This record gives sequence, C-alpha cells and structure tokens, in this order.
Amino acid sequence: MGGDGMSDSLIEMTNAQLHYKVGNSISAMMGLPSTVKAVDGVSLTLKRGESVGLLGESGCGKTSMGRVLVRLEQVTGGSARFDGKEIGQMKGAELQAFRSRSQMIFQNPFDAVNPRYSIRRTLEEPLSNAGIKRGEWHDRVIAALELVGLGDPEQFLERFPHQLSGGQLQRVVMARALILEPEFVVADEPVSMLDVSVRAGVLNVFRDVRDRLGLTAIYISHDLALVRYVCERTIVMYLGRIMEDGPTEDIVHAPLHPYTQALVAAVPTPHVDQSHAPLPIGAGAPDPRNPPSGCVFRDRCPLVQDRCASDIPQPRKIGTRLVACHFAGS
Ligand SMILES: Nc1ncnc2c1ncn2[C@@H]1O[C@H](COP(=O)(O)OP(=O)(O)O)[C@@H](O)[C@H]1O
Ligand SMILES: [Mg+2]
Repeated sequence: MGGDGMSDSLIEMTNAQLHYKVGNSISAMMGLPSTVKAVDGVSLTLKRGESVGLLGESGCGKTSMGRVLVRLEQVTGGSARFDGKEIGQMKGAELQAFRSRSQMIFQNPFDAVNPRYSIRRTLEEPLSNAGIKRGEWHDRVIAALELVGLGDPEQFLERFPHQLSGGQLQRVVMARALILEPEFVVADEPVSMLDVSVRAGVLNVFRDVRDRLGLTAIYISHDLALVRYVCERTIVMYLGRIMEDGPTEDIVHAPLHPYTQALVAAVPTPHVDQSHAPLPIGAGAPDPRNPPSGCVFRDRCPLVQDRCASDIPQPRKIGTRLVACHFAGS
C-alpha cells in the first residue's frame, strides 16, 4: 500500500495554510478581516512510526492542523501530503483508502458519537463504510474493544453512549478510530473532557496501542505535562505557526523559544493531574483574525525588538531544535 518510492516520511506539510473565511458583507464594509489564519505557513515532516505532540494554548490552530491531515478541511495554500500524495487532491479509491489509513480521535467523546447508535452500531459503521464483509464485523468489533482495554466486550455491544462513563466512551471512540487499522492517528486532546481520575488509564491505552500497532501519531494538547507523558517529540504552535520543534525532554529542560519558555514555566510538575499556574506572559493569545505583523508572538514576548514587527522569523536550527525566533539562543 506504500506510496511513491516508500520514503521514510508519512506526513509532509510545506508552507501549509488553512485560512477560514469569516464575517459577512457588513463586517467587510466595516473593514474587519475576512479570514482567520488558523494555520499559516506550517512546514513539518513526520516519519513513519513517529509520535509528535502538538502543543499550544487554545485557539492557536492545533485542531485545524489535525483536521487538514485527516481531510476534514483542505489547505487553502501550500501543501499537505500523506504518503507522498497531496491530501486535498485524492479521489476515488485512493481517497477511500486514505479514509481508512488516517483517523482522528475527537476531544469530546459525547459529541463524537451518535447518541442513538448502540456501541455495536457505532463500531460497525466504519466497517460498513469501508466495504468490509458483514461476516467479519462481529469479530472485528470485539477485537477493537479488547484493544482499547474494554474487557468483557460483549457486555458493551447493546449499550448506548449515555450508559457508558466518559472514560469508557472515549475508549469506544478510540476503538472506532482503530478498527480499520489506520497507519496515522490524530488524537485531539483525548482526555481533556474526562474526569482526572480516568485520564491516566485512557492515556496509557493510547500509548500502548500506538506502540503495538506502530502508528504514526499526532497528540494534540494544551498541556505540556500530557505531551511529555505521551510523545518523544514536541511541536509548539502559536497563532497558526510553529515556534519550536524538537525532542520533548530537551524542550522541557531547556526551552529555547520565549513562548515555549512561558509554557514550561507554567507547568509545576510532570503529573498528569496537576493544576496549572497562569502563563507568565499575561493574557491569552491575540485574535487570529488580526495577528501582529512580523512575529505573531511579539506583543507578548520578553525579547521583543524593532525587527520583530517587520521580519517573520523563519525556523532555524539550534542544537536539537528548530526555533522560529530572531533572538532565541543568542
Ligand atoms: N470552522 C471555523 N471557521 C472559522 N474559524 C474557525 C473555525 N474553526 C476554528 N476557527 C478559528 O481558528 C482558530 C484556530 O482554532 P483551532 O484550530 O480550533 O485551535 P486550537 O485547537 O489550538 O484551540 C481559532 O481562532 C478559531 O476560532
Ligand atoms: Mg482544539
């Protein structure tokens, strides 16, 4: 099933953009911006089997990036490729195969499932859509439920989402994402809506399944402690752009970008259930309809200088990291 030449990278984004159209004729007359630059000039490569945390505050474009990579959205500029093929240009059998090969686990399990579908039907639906023979469905549903640690799976089949706990339902959502044996999974804050007491269990299942199946994965979170628990590599995003990219432990112990430094300073200990201090750089991210010129981080940045208003910092290599800042590391 490999792509052209079977390179060792599975995902490649090159200057990718996702600009949402917003507003109406009245807001346009008032001179308000007509786009939100949710993803704005992102370049990255994910190797097969690699697992990357996508970290940043709410609104910085993490979910949008994930949606591009499973083709729930299409780039409005630049390129996003899966196994060598432009994701937005796939059609027919290739698109159908892609729909199985690449999956997203959504943030809120109660929104992610149809409340009127039994667990059995929830899990059979992707099998049916993918054209899997009916005779195989039962065994595959049971295997998927076992895979995500729902022991005694038969007891769940005829139950409905509201009869499950949040943690159980998120495992079902994970089972549904995995039932077609994908190669690539985007997990979008999969534990943020769950009770603290069940988070570790769901995270462990995610890690375990990912490693056993050799998945390529993106784990989205606003929480560095969670990303650290799950991923060896971390990409830090701010207002649609990548600020820093490198090994998670290096980022935790010696963050280079001033934004990453603020995120790290706000995490007191690496515990999954730890509450967080406010960021030491003041209030939340500015409006992505109207990002600052030059470096998008400059109006919260302790290192800011004149140049930051005019020159967009391009990612540059510093040690093990790529860092998009004119002054970091100097
Ligand atoms: N469908 C949409 N239409 C318009 N704006 C959107 C849409 N989805 C997200 N946005 C905006 O894009 C920006 C990035 O959102 P999102 O990708 O959800 O960020 P994150 O997942 O990091 O919180 C936000 O400003 C958000 O309001
Ligand atoms: Mg999100």
